[in-house]
Amino acid sequence: MTSSPVDVLFRPFQLKTLNLKNRIVMAPMTRSFSPEGVPGANVADYYRRRALGQVGLIISEGTVIDRPSARNDPNIPFFHGEEPLAGWKNVIEAVHEAGGKMAPQIWHTGSVPNPFTEWTPDSPVESPSGLVAPEKQRGKAMTDEDIADTVAAFGRAAAESKQLGFDAVEIHGAHGYLLDQFFWDGTNQRSDHFGGSTIRERSRFAVEVIKSVRAAVGPDHAIILRLSQWKQQDYAVRIAHTPDEMADWLVPLVDAGADILHCSQRRFWEAEYPQIDGENGLNFAGWAKKVTGAATISVGSVGLSGDLLSTFGGESSTPASLDNLLERMERDEFDLIAIGRAILSDPEWVTKIRSGNTSSLKDFSPAALGELY
Ligand SMILES: Cc1cc2nc3c(=O)[nH]c(=O)nc-3n(C[C@H](O)[C@H](O)[C@H](O)COP(=O)(O)O)c2cc1C
Repeated sequence: MTSSPVDVLFRPFQLKTLNLKNRIVMAPMTRSFSPEGVPGANVADYYRRRALGQVGLIISEGTVIDRPSARNDPNIPFFHGEEPLAGWKNVIEAVHEAGGKMAPQIWHTGSVPNPFTEWTPDSPVESPSGLVAPEKQRGKAMTDEDIADTVAAFGRAAAESKQLGFDAVEIHGAHGYLLDQFFWDGTNQRSDHFGGSTIRERSRFAVEVIKSVRAAVGPDHAIILRLSQWKQQDYAVRIAHTPDEMADWLVPLVDAGADILHCSQRRFWEAEYPQIDGENGLNFAGWAKKVTGAATISVGSVGLSGDLLSTFGGESSTPASLDNLLERMERDEFDLIAIGRAILSDPEWVTKIRSGNTSSLKDFSPAALGELY
């Protein structure tokens, strides 16, 4: 086979027991096709198609831990209970039969409402300080008991996922949901062990969650942690304004047991600290790798002209060049790249990229969100 610029995406990747045939990750995407929290055969088929389509690592949609108000939509899947776990067993078996690898993304939505449904859980929603955004009250502040139970529930979900045969586990710590509400000073006003004026102090809840997950899966199973500077409550918010602050945030999380940091951006090519290394400088995943030494995943508008926000605003996107991505991968700025919408709408995206069949790449239409193919 002659060499091609995209070969850099098709190098294998290995970390602990996780062995991937390429560097391409399917980003976690909530699909809301699991009535009563049970992923059915349609969900297994959806992930099977991406495994057959040569995705290196599939990360599931967010799937919630065993807490009364862990979800904000009745059709997102549970990762606890007999029926949902049987559904997930079918999913991982289908993915493995098709030669794929998969991690569930385990999640607690905190106090964030779902903009697409009026549904609310029976129990009050919970968060560090009873806030959903600065000065915006919603639900209740978590007690010590709530925190301990939540930490334990993350551990149980991780243990179940390993038991079912998943290849790694991802903890959702991004986008303004529960873990992120602890990181963010705008929503964490606690004066106890889990709050404080520094990001290091506000990371202690996540540290406990990671330790619980690590204890549940043992030393050799890869733990991925998803993080973002942005919040859906406010896209302009930043947790770490400097590399030093980023180290204060991330080093304790890696020390607690996170192996791979999944650094969520809306546009992967945007420099995290342009004042330091210029407009084409390291992105979030690049800096996270630099300050921690951990493996990282980048993400954000790969292969598409418009970003996530434009999709939720109803706009379509067209296929876009991968050149900037390939240059960054050549420099090993980060280890893996996650692709969201392009793979949501086209299970064959990876094989098309590999074979250079770019003329058959599809536009992304928001209508794709309404079906599970
Ligand atoms: C429909 C949809 C659902 C999403 N759900 C989740 C989710 O459950 N967990 C998560 O961490 N990110 C979620 N995201 C964000 C994606 O993982 C990804 O970061 C984002 O779409 C940017 O990647 P892209 O530009 O390649 O689509 C979702 C995105 C979309 C489009």
